[in-house]
Amino acid sequence: MIVRDLDRTREQLARLLDEAHTDEAGNLSEVAAQILKQRADLLAAAARHETPFYLFDRPGFREALRQFAQVFGSHLPQHRPFYAVKSNHHPWVVQEAVAQGYGLDVSSGRELHQALHSAAQQIVFSGPAKSIADHELALQHADRVIINLDSHGELARLGAATERSGRAIRAGVRICTQHHGAWSKFGIPLSELGSLWRAAQRHPLVQLVGIQSHLSWNRDALPYERLIADLGHYLGSEFSAEERATIQFIDLGGGFRPHRLEGYFPWDHPVGTLARTAAEHFGESTEFAHDYYLKDSVPLLSYAERIGAAIATHLAPLVHCAYYTEPGRVVSTHSMHILLRVVDRKSDGLVIVDGGINMVGWERYLHIYCPVVNLTHPALTEIPVRIGGSLCDCEDVWGSRCYAERIEEGDVLIVPYQGAYTFCVAQNFIRSIPPVHELTSG
Ligand SMILES: Cc1ncc(COP(=O)(O)O)c(C=O)c1O
Repeated sequence: MIVRDLDRTREQLARLLDEAHTDEAGNLSEVAAQILKQRADLLAAAARHETPFYLFDRPGFREALRQFAQVFGSHLPQHRPFYAVKSNHHPWVVQEAVAQGYGLDVSSGRELHQALHSAAQQIVFSGPAKSIADHELALQHADRVIINLDSHGELARLGAATERSGRAIRAGVRICTQHHGAWSKFGIPLSELGSLWRAAQRHPLVQLVGIQSHLSWNRDALPYERLIADLGHYLGSEFSAEERATIQFIDLGGGFRPHRLEGYFPWDHPVGTLARTAAEHFGESTEFAHDYYLKDSVPLLSYAERIGAAIATHLAPLVHCAYYTEPGRVVSTHSMHILLRVVDRKSDGLVIVDGGINMVGWERYLHIYCPVVNLTHPALTEIPVRIGGSLCDCEDVWGSRCYAERIEEGDVLIVPYQGAYTFCVAQNFIRSIPPVHELTSG
């Protein structure tokens, strides 16, 4: 037997099957309606440029940046957003974030170079395994760069680099808590914050003035509330008032999820996985009740209000500092759309388009439902049709439904709001990575 305790597994499986499933069945027609407001401009872009391509939507991205900064700025004391470059590093995207007053959050020497060549006034440099060259580059630009230390070892290495160069730099330290799971790869445990803070005194040119933490995929504010409560408790009991007074910023990272843009498939829910695995094992098929469910998350305002309230309760009585955030996907998802053209209509149920999932770097649409809209023959309801990509790879699929009245060869399809972790993880697999063009209006 593959499990040690079969009775226990049986009981767990039964409990899982009996659990109520309350996620909302998918309907993202609002996303289709939203993008169709720009239909004429989108079709004009497809007429001007050969498909496939990424379409940079400057006004859409600007609005997402504006909303985030406005909502968080009204609830977090001295809030400063740093755009997470890793989520989309295209120069137009990064420049627009800077133009909207954002600092930049970078995670490698390459990203640091890019940020230093931009007009960003403030750059936070996080991430593991920074090299000596990375530290030296940051030190040359210490007026703009804050280093978020990832370990005790990094403190020693940065300390040595400051002594070699005679330059000082501001730094924060990344922490993780018992809630960080796989993310505990980064930073130091909260319980070691005091010892690192004191060890930094041995490196007078490392000005340790901040604390950072990050977790991705937060569907609501709970992870931030927990972090803030844990940190408040720790700073209250383990830091002296003098030490607390040296804290100039607390950086809460990114991890805010775009609201109502994506869904998940029933077979990726634990019950669905189980049902499908069992059926397939016996050579049978599973009929699922719905095509997809919403990957829900709260609106920006709810994150910001609850984070602001947690700061007021746990940190404001102890520390008077600025609060940084590092939004990635919640803003950059709005920066780009993907435009494709139907090359072959093989049957009512299968079309092939000219772009492949090398544009997004992985089999994203087998795991995440994203609306696909036919710009040529649009509708606010979907037809069932498998949309195969241009790669000689059976997992190259954009979806199995399309907001369309019908679908024909030559039709232009859009996968809207695909700016996050797509362009930046694109692959040269089989085909080259297509170009980025800019959406223009009128
Ligand atoms: C340190 C750090 N900050 C910010 C982000 C951005 O996260 P998200 O795109 O989920 O907002 C990441 C992503 O992994 C990160 O590692």
